[in-house]
Amino acid sequence: MTITKPAFIDINQVSVVYDSKKGPVTAIEQIDKQINQGDFICVLGPSGCGKSTLLKVIAGFIQPTKGTCQMEDKLITQPSWERGVVFQDSTLYPWMSVQENIEYGLKMRQVNPTMIKERTESILEQVGLLHVKDAHTFELSGGMQQRVAVARTLVNKPKMILMDEPFGALDALTRLNMQGLTRDLWQEEKTTVFLITHDIDEAMTLGNRVWVMSKNPGKIEKEYQLDYTYQALTDERHRVSVDDKYLTIKNEILDIIGA
Ligand SMILES: Nc1ncnc2c1ncn2[C@@H]1O[C@H](COP(=O)(O)OP(=O)(O)OP(=O)(O)O)[C@@H](O)[C@H]1O
Ligand SMILES: [Mg+2]
Repeated sequence: MTITKPAFIDINQVSVVYDSKKGPVTAIEQIDKQINQGDFICVLGPSGCGKSTLLKVIAGFIQPTKGTCQMEDKLITQPSWERGVVFQDSTLYPWMSVQENIEYGLKMRQVNPTMIKERTESILEQVGLLHVKDAHTFELSGGMQQRVAVARTLVNKPKMILMDEPFGALDALTRLNMQGLTRDLWQEEKTTVFLITHDIDEAMTLGNRVWVMSKNPGKIEKEYQLDYTYQALTDERHRVSVDDKYLTIKNEILDIIGA
């Protein structure tokens, strides 16, 4: 008899139908996918195809109308610190310092104060914010605020981090830096990442798996397994070499999402 290990995340025939004033809206239909521990999944697709809906199911913010979503064989029924979420405009607490924002979740969970101090310092160092730990968040640039949001999630040592267009509001250079930081943290922390983006290059250079969705109804049309992110990890300047295969895949994705 072979005993198969349960998938880290098992999305099993998941459909989500919302009630709206105009009647039921099928946001996603029969999505069936597994995520392995340590995967970096990037999700692309046209606006309204159900990307955020899928993220909310995995995060435990909403329940599927049909099907189930499980983490390590346990049904996901509510949000948990084990699955940290970062949004594009993650709101930080303006009355707290950078450090207090980051410590907040651990304090709520009554983690031991020495551990809180250690973890907070270490994550502040990793995201390059140790020098502004006592500043208020409104004194920081947009990129720095987003680093606080990422740090605030990672300090909990979640098993998985879910990001909904986390870098969409950042300028191109800051965005590149944040992509590099996220890739490095993924490797260092051996965490699992699920990241939604509209940027095909971002998806192709970060994810080891890229899911491309189509809409009406929202489905995963195609998956690509890529190694550009590993290239970037080993490249001295953290870049990937854009080869013919890269361009072919990029064009295929553009065709699927109808851009
Ligand atoms: N709470 C809700 N009530 C009713 N309909 C909703 C709700 N949330 C989302 N929808 C609808 O479900 C569909 C999918 O929405 P979703 O936000 O998941 O798309 P998305 O792919 O994240 O889009 P975008 O790229 O614009 O963020 C859309 O048609 C949207 O209008
Ligand atoms: Mg969305």
